[in-house]
Amino acid sequence: MLFNRSEVLDRIRTSGIIDRGGTILGASRTSPLRIKDGSQKLLDTFHEFGLRALVVLGGEGTLSVASQLYEMGLPLVGIPKTIDNDVKETDFTIGFQTAVQIATDALDRLRSTAASHHRVMILEVMGRRTGWIATYAGMANGADAILIPEILMDEKNTDELCDMLKSRNQRGINFSIVVVAEGVQLGGEVIFKPSLPMDKHEDPDRLGGVGQVLAALIEKKTGLHVRVSSLDYIQRGGTPVAYDRSLATAFGVKAFELILENRFGEMTALRGNRITSVPLQKVAGGVKTVDMSVYKIAKIFFG
Ligand code: F6P
Repeated sequence: MLFNRSEVLDRIRTSGIIDRGGTILGASRTSPLRIKDGSQKLLDTFHEFGLRALVVLGGEGTLSVASQLYEMGLPLVGIPKTIDNDVKETDFTIGFQTAVQIATDALDRLRSTAASHHRVMILEVMGRRTGWIATYAGMANGADAILIPEILMDEKNTDELCDMLKSRNQRGINFSIVVVAEGVQLGGEVIFKPSLPMDKHEDPDRLGGVGQVLAALIEKKTGLHVRVSSLDYIQRGGTPVAYDRSLATAFGVKAFELILENRFGEMTALRGNRITSVPLQKVAGGVKTVDMSVYKIAKIFFG
């Protein structure tokens, strides 16, 4: 087993994985706590392989499970890694900036086709409970409206959006760009993907389709031509941007240090420009919603 600093560094130096996204371990998206005797099996496997520590990477769900497993006696540390950027106690998570870049590139492309054909283009991006990707990508593109789960799309807000789109058209601006996060509630309802056959341990609540529902609504209320694109899993793969590679490197080094110092039950975190750590307990069971001061900056350019 590798635990010595120079052995680990040599393994990393020769791995050639710094420019790869995804998981090289092929980890599932299944919580061991949802499987019968799952946590016991996990503890047994940990001891069977003679491991001394676990580094758990993931979003709020994964890190909450990690926190429970730590309480059960597993020596582990966490690293926040999700495109959603909704993990508490850290400014950014690994993967977020890459997803934002992919969504921004998509929006830039949509802008040219929107302008050519005088359409409202809607881009649906991921974000089940928070609209971080929508906010940052929308701001980077200068989007005309950004819809996030933090803001309920009730009748008043939907009417305001439609009025704004119509007013642009009347002012001779004949196209608009709207970004919508998958978890946005239209009239209090989230939109699910039509059910597909799935693994028995998988999450049954697959979101998706809010862009289409919104498009129908806008067309009906405004008479404008609307088209929809959904980025789906495209925003979750491919080559990581430089920022994510540096953040992953810094978090990896910090996790290794935490292990060497026997500081289990902690998660690496970014605060300002500083890499630090926080107890996993503080992260479990809740999400970090969009920073409204950032959203307000993007909002200045709506309309
Ligand atoms: O957790 C990140 C996330 O990208 C969510 O925004 C999205 O709803 C979900 O994953 C999709 O998960 P799955 O891979 O299970 O379909």
